[in-house]
Parts: sequence; structure tokens; C-alpha cells
Amino acid sequence: MNQPLHPNLHVTAHPLIQQKLTRARDKTTARETFRDLLSEIAVLMVFELTRDFPVKPVEVQTPLEKTTGAVLAADICVVPVLRAGLGMAEGILHLIPQARVGHLGVYRNEQTLQPVAYFNKLPADVAKTSVIIVDPMLATGGSAVHAVNLVKATGAKHIQLLCLLAAPEGIARMAKEHPDVPIHTAAVDRELDHRGYIMPGLGDAGDRLYGTG
Ligand code: PRP
Ligand code: URA
Repeated sequence: MNQPLHPNLHVTAHPLIQQKLTRARDKTTARETFRDLLSEIAVLMVFELTRDFPVKPVEVQTPLEKTTGAVLAADICVVPVLRAGLGMAEGILHLIPQARVGHLGVYRNEQTLQPVAYFNKLPADVAKTSVIIVDPMLATGGSAVHAVNLVKATGAKHIQLLCLLAAPEGIARMAKEHPDVPIHTAAVDRELDHRGYIMPGLGDAGDRLYGTG
């Protein structure tokens, strides 16, 4: 039997997500639509990711009587990896408006494919939160591993990675360096090309979101 790529890999193969992902892959999809799709997919995926998050009871007074409802037991911190992660974080904040947000600026050196860090602003009490790192592309895994390193350095224990597309190479790198961090992706693509792009992929997510490149 084949070894799994990562002990905690979740592929969210919901038909609505797959349909939106297919439109996002399409090179003729306009920038504004691509942006909407990324945000919508992130919402659907985070809905699944948070399925087992613990809740605590709260009392609520309806117009008729008191009853017991539920709220999330832990604070959530969404950590977009700039730039492309911002395209997912926005949607997630519509679903979890009370979430804290930490920003990590990382870009990939186009020649070496090594991550270059340029910004780090995490909430002071991030360690007490349930952290969701968001970045649409898990390619070599360099950026994701770097982001998880920074979040773990705060003492945070409950960390998950949410992406849109993952390459086997990036999943294997995460399995080696952070096997304890679950990965949620909408698809596992075939491979990386010689420039480190995910194949078949969707191209450069940041450029497609922001009209650069
Ligand atoms: C992209 C993507 C990831 C990274 C993935 O960012 O959003 O952060 O590449 O590649 P890796 O797994 O090989 O590290 P990019 O460097 O293009 O920066 P951008 O989001 O600012 O465009
Ligand atoms: N970053 C992207 O935006 N796309 C890829 O295919 C790989 C890394």
C-alpha cells in the first residue's frame, strides 16, 4: 500500500468547491471573478475545517424564554501569508468576524525558490488561539514551513494550514518538518514544473489576484 503524503492531509472534494476551483484554474477567468472565487472557496473550506472545533454553552434569552446556545470555545487567529493568502482571509473573516488576524509577509525567490520573509505581525496572544494559516498555493512548501515555524515560535499549539492547491513536493516537505500540522486543500496536483509552479495549477495566485506579473 502507498504511504500517505502527510499523516494529516484533508482534501475537501466537495462538488461546489471543485466547481469553483475549476473556474479559478481557467486562464480566461477575469481577475475580479478569480478574487471572488478564492474568497468563496476559502469560506467553504473553513466551514469544513472548523467542523470539530469545541464550543462552550451560553445562555440566550429568546423573545419567549431562556435557552442554552453555543459559542466557539477558543479564539481563532487567521494568518494569511502575503500576498495571496489575503485573498482567502477576507472570505474567512465574513464567516468568523471575531477572528484575530496575523500577517506574515513571505515571497519566494524566483531563482532559488527559497522563502524570503519581509513582514511578521502576529497578535500578542496568538499562542492561546486556534491558528489557521492561509495561503492558496503549497508548492515546494518553503513558504508554508517558514510560516508554521514563526507561528510555532509563539508557543501556539493548535495550528492548521488551509490552501487551495498542494503539490506532492510541498506536502512531503510539510510531512517532514511539521507532521503535526493538518493540511486542508481543495486538490493535490500532479507535480512542480522546472520553475516551481504547481502543475496543472492555476498560475501565479498573487499575480492573478492583484494584476501584477
Ligand atoms: C506564492 C504562494 C505561496 C508560495 C508557495 O507566493 O502564495 O506563498 O508562492 O510557494 P512555495 O511552496 O514554493 O514556497 P509568492 O512567492 O508568489 O508571493 P506573492 O503571494 O506575494 O505573489
Ligand atoms: N506560487 C504560485 O502562485 N503558483 C504556483 O504554482 C506556485 C507558487
